[in-house]
Amino acid sequence: MPLEKPLPSARPGQGAQSTAAFYDQVAPVYDQQFAHPPAYTFQQARWLARVCPPGPLLDLGCGSGRMLGPLSEAGFAPVAGLDCSPSMLGLARRACPDAPLVLADASQGLPLRSASFASIVSLHSSLIHLTRPGDPPRLLAEALRVLRPGGLLVLELPHPHSYPPEAAPGRWRDFSEGIRCRRVEHGLEELRLDELGGLTTRVRLWELDDLRRWFQGWARVEVHPGFAGGRFDPRQGSIMVVVAGKGRG
Ligand SMILES: C[S@@+](CC[C@H](N)C(=O)[O-])C[C@H]1O[C@@H](n2cnc3c(N)ncnc32)[C@H](O)[C@@H]1O
Repeated sequence: MPLEKPLPSARPGQGAQSTAAFYDQVAPVYDQQFAHPPAYTFQQARWLARVCPPGPLLDLGCGSGRMLGPLSEAGFAPVAGLDCSPSMLGLARRACPDAPLVLADASQGLPLRSASFASIVSLHSSLIHLTRPGDPPRLLAEALRVLRPGGLLVLELPHPHSYPPEAAPGRWRDFSEGIRCRRVEHGLEELRLDELGGLTTRVRLWELDDLRRWFQGWARVEVHPGFAGGRFDPRQGSIMVVVAGKGRG
């Protein structure tokens, strides 16, 4: 697997280049302020160990490497990470010095060998940063290529109705502690981190209709309400966990 490839160029202020710049600034406080707490991390690792086939696993948008150690301890090997932010990947390197880590923009393709991973996971909403309409289907085609036959993709994304309703067009709403959001257009939100000088980034909310279109060609697709079991309710919830299997053929 190629390691530490240079970041492909992107137009200034667009796509992963601006996402990388955003996370480079968030990195110093990410683990303390924005990462999931350790108990949730271990719940995720246990659930993934039950659901995913054993073998090599790619953590797509691995960020600070929060999941790399727990996934190795859960039995996946090797556990590789890919991220577009050099500073986030630097934290992952420090957390897991032996893990294969790749610096790349996932929206431009995955610089990884075909059929090299049994599982790909993308957690804590990393893929909401793929904001251009063509990005998610292109990435899913790449995930199909990189997965082995029978492999599994697991995405943790916001529930489509988890964002607070819009009171007036374009007005900032409280999203969570220290984070506000405002609608740019249907399905596209701007997030603002008040404590980091009003740093902003844009995110796309994946909807169920998007999933139906984008996951054509996968052998099976399930949506779960989280990592603790239960039935997904399309009308309410905080997250959705999409599990998509590649066929064996
Ligand atoms: C909210 S953090 C989640 C990090 C980690 N998955 C976790 O569970 O803590 C989102 C991560 O996705 C990465 N990311 C966003 N867009 C990306 C892209 N196009 N290619 C690669 N990584 C990306 C960001 O750099 C950031 O580290």
